Order: sequence, then C-alpha cells, then structure tokens
Amino acid sequence: MTPKDVKTALTKVPTHVAIIMDGNGRWAKKRGLPRLAGHKAGTENLRRVIRASVEFGVKYLTIYAFSTENWGRPQEEIEGLLNILAEVIDRELNELHREGVQLRHIGHLDRLPPTLQEKVLDAVELTQNNTRLVLNLAFNYGGRDEIVCAMRDIIRAGIPAEKVTPELVSEYLFTVGVPDPDLIIRTSGEMRVSNFLIWQGAYSEWYITPTFWPDFDRDEFYKALVDFGHRDRRYGLVASDGSID
Ligand code: FPP
Repeated sequence: MTPKDVKTALTKVPTHVAIIMDGNGRWAKKRGLPRLAGHKAGTENLRRVIRASVEFGVKYLTIYAFSTENWGRPQEEIEGLLNILAEVIDRELNELHREGVQLRHIGHLDRLPPTLQEKVLDAVELTQNNTRLVLNLAFNYGGRDEIVCAMRDIIRAGIPAEKVTPELVSEYLFTVGVPDPDLIIRTSGEMRVSNFLIWQGAYSEWYITPTFWPDFDRDEFYKALVDFGHRDRRYGLVASDGSID
C-alpha cells in the first residue's frame, strides 16, 4: 500500500492512541526464552509502532511500560525493565528527537534510580518543543494513584468543593494538556483495564487483539485503526443515524 492509499483507507485517524503492551512474557515462553527476552522483543516492536504512529498521523501515543503494581514482579524482571528504559533512551533518543517526537512521562519517577530519573527528565526537556508526535511514557504509573494525587493537590490548592469539575480534575492529572485517548489497544487478549488511564479513558473505544505485543506490528496497528474508523462514538448520546441501540 502506498502512503496515499493508507491515508485514503483510514477514514478517521484517532488523535490519541493508548496501548497496554501485554503478552511479552507469553511470547517468550512460547519460544522457550526468559521473560526478559519477551520485553526486549517488545521494545523492538515499540520502534515499529512509534514509526507507524507518525506514518498514520496519530498525534499522541501513550504506552503502558510499567505499572505501580509491577514492583511486585521478581527483582530480576524489575531490574531488566529499568535497564531497558535506560537503554531505550540512550539508543533511541537522538533519532526520536530528529523525527520530531516529544517525550513525556506520566507516573512517578521517585522510585527509579537517580541516574535513570535524570535520563528521563533530560529526554523530556530535550524534546519538549517537538510537535510531530507526543509519546507519553507511563512508567511507574497507576490510574488510581494519579487520581488520588490530583485530589490531594486540589485540596492543597484550597479549591472550594463547588469549583471541582471534571475539567478541573483533568488539569491536575499527569496528562494535563493531552486530549483523552480516542482508542485504547490491549494486546494478548486480556479484557481488563488494569488501572490504565481510568479517568481519561471514560469514553475511549477499546480494541483488544489476541496478538502478543512483540508481534503487534505496523500491519496489526493499521488494522486497529481501520476498525476504529468504523466505530460510531456516542458519548452516552444517540447514534449518528438517530438510533439508540
Ligand atoms: C506486559 O507483558 C508488559 C510489561 C509489563 C512491560 C512492557 C514493556 C515493554 C514492551 C518494553 C518497552 C519498555 C520501555 C521501558 C520503553 P507481560 O510481561 O505481563 O506479559 P505476560 O502477561 O504474557 O506475562
């Protein structure tokens, strides 16, 4: 398919796609490899999906790389994921910057090793004026934690109860300034939200595929976007043809 055909076939491109990159462990197990080999393959795939996002005209991509619950995994796996993050920044940052990708982080950095915190902050600062794609990295992120932090900040700011609206809450989340996700993709067939963007995803469309994350390549991503193009989003209202079911 030529780039022009791709654009024509995609009737509606989601502005913001968020992804739960699930199934790395099972991908590795199927091949008799350690779980970390699955995360490495998943990282390679991330490059493909970032490129595809730019190609298809997605403006915001949020990826769930490490949840607040993932600290309960074996130490070796946690260290492996922290190392992967450091390696990805070292290896990919210059190219991402050249390609116009703005890196943002959502979640808490404070439990990460200080050198890694610095790496993330430097990468965020370096790319802050890029506009081609905003890549939101959810690392040590949890949706409930995010909402609790927002409530605490609202209370600390002395905002009166009647001034607390959905719009105001959104301004206190890690994702301030980022539109809510239009489409949330979860790979590996699990049908769970897993504490991911629970506020922002209130009206997101979901796309769940049995494909494990390392195999969710450009073409699979494309299929998800085509599927999204056929959805009729209602936001609790009636369908665009007037029907209610
Ligand atoms: C879930 O699969 C995946 C993760 C918890 C980590 C996702 C990380 C990557 C794709 C690497 C990219 C990371 C960074 C930091 C840029 P799982 O291990 O739960 O799979 P399973 O359910 O099959 O065990």
